[in-house]
Amino acid sequence: MNLKDLYIDFFVSKGHKQIPSAPVIPENDPSVLFNTAGMQPLIPYLMGQAHPYGKRLVDYQKCIRTNDLDSIGDTTHHTFFEMLGNWSLGDYFKKESISWSFEFLTSVLKIPVEKLAVTVFAGNNDIPEDTESIEIWKSLGIKEGRIAKTVEDNFWIAGETGPCGPDTEIFYFRSEDEIPEIFDPEDNRWVEIWNNVFMQYNKSLDGSISELPNKNVDTGMGVERVVAILEGVNDNYTTSIWKDVINKIEELSNIKYEENKESMRIIADHLRTAVFISADPTGIKPSNTDQGYILRRLIRRAIRHAKKLNIDMNSDWEQEIALIILDKYSKYYSELEANKQVVLEVLKNERIKFNRTLEKGLREFEKIASNITDGKLNKDLAFKLYDTYGFPIELTVELASELNLLVDVDGFKEKFKAHQELSRAGASAKFKGGLAGDGEAETKYHTATHLLNAALKVVVNEDVHQKGSNITSERMRFDFSCDHKLTAEEKQKVEELVNKWIKEEIPITKEEMNKEEALKSGAECMFIEKYPDVVTVYSIGNISKELCGGPHVENTKELGVFEIKKEEASSAGVRRIKAILK
Ligand code: ALA
Repeated sequence: MNLKDLYIDFFVSKGHKQIPSAPVIPENDPSVLFNTAGMQPLIPYLMGQAHPYGKRLVDYQKCIRTNDLDSIGDTTHHTFFEMLGNWSLGDYFKKESISWSFEFLTSVLKIPVEKLAVTVFAGNNDIPEDTESIEIWKSLGIKEGRIAKTVEDNFWIAGETGPCGPDTEIFYFRSEDEIPEIFDPEDNRWVEIWNNVFMQYNKSLDGSISELPNKNVDTGMGVERVVAILEGVNDNYTTSIWKDVINKIEELSNIKYEENKESMRIIADHLRTAVFISADPTGIKPSNTDQGYILRRLIRRAIRHAKKLNIDMNSDWEQEIALIILDKYSKYYSELEANKQVVLEVLKNERIKFNRTLEKGLREFEKIASNITDGKLNKDLAFKLYDTYGFPIELTVELASELNLLVDVDGFKEKFKAHQELSRAGASAKFKGGLAGDGEAETKYHTATHLLNAALKVVVNEDVHQKGSNITSERMRFDFSCDHKLTAEEKQKVEELVNKWIKEEIPITKEEMNKEEALKSGAECMFIEKYPDVVTVYSIGNISKELCGGPHVENTKELGVFEIKKEEASSAGVRRIKAILK
């Protein structure tokens, strides 16, 4: 039987009710981007509210942790993982919690006691040493030498504030070596597999700790680590969870896992996470902010590693991998089946989009790298790679480290933040100040003009340039250089592409810069001499970048549906499109 099923059955037999996994994007909690632990959706209940399913709960929860992306590629870390959890909301406490964990590991999973060790809370000024847990572990047969005490690592809280408490962590000796009598939690042959938190406190913003109305238990056990133990392997990616995915990557690349484990692990891990983010009911799409940006970074990093493995970039390789993941997890998470097409489209669109700039970006990177003499890639260059070629910072860092170059990541992050704030400030000022002279409809048409301009370049050819435009609240007119009448197919493709970008919910960002700098950055404009020295540049993701007075909508999703009504000659070498938004 599967670990998840064994776990749920065991805790149901101990009076727990199974609750469904919450979406991976938290509902009603804007403070975090993703659920990072099984307890996150349960915070109101840990704080004292009655849970409709009662006081004993059990589940498997989808979690995403992105604080440690650099570790992905090793044997035990995953961006997305499943956490098995059981909870007592003011019901049982330490004795039952510890005893049941022990029983599940040793009787159900048949893990030998000699391979287990634990840590417990050593005590500080506020909270005493957890002697109760020590006694319980000893009574179950854990030897004193296998019980270690720490302060920092045995107090658990999800972030800065909220329900928290001392915990006891269970470790497994994952090595062929002789098991040491004395357990050292710093020895990485011992892998943490389960954490039982005794949540009886609440930490406030001012740092003070108060008692919660209930003494709760919150536990979390990582599925992939335990499966690796049960299957007797030291590399999570060689378990039954990943086998099919890794085999597929081997097949697509014609390379053996042993030849490039790191890239294969990154592709497998990042695509699995991308599948779960894009299948989430909130409908996140790759973008340049928040969850959408994480999604974009994960897909792009996977693409770059696939390129490293010489996987054919123009094939649907990522679809083949995603289908295996979708198939594997659909039984447990119904949204995967329901949103299968959405997931596949998100991945494909992002691959196509990134492929357009990846080659150029890699060449630019090589150029930049060859000019570096002090071993350092500065923040401006890192930002340029991001802004112009869509290179997430991890990608730049990875490329740089292959050449022993250091990237100013902190500097990049500052610049990135300032850039985001500037666009937010621009957007909110625009909305506060009202749209002088421009109604809502006209504003939408302004943005649609930029999308149309960009779509013509993709579909017709790169040399298409805007020659004029005219907007009313009813329609837009757009003149552009082109030597032929658009075919029905071209018109349809342009329309489809604009609508695709609208559906992708791309935020529009605004930047002030000097005219020369703007032109150098590749921004488009019609009559450069008409612009002042400091200009405003509007960007729509990586799709469009234009000097423009605005105003624009905040996000392409506001545009509705774009439809071309007419395409006709305007003057010699200039065509005219009339289009509407519905
Ligand atoms: N909430 C605890 C953890 O994530 C169980 O480790």
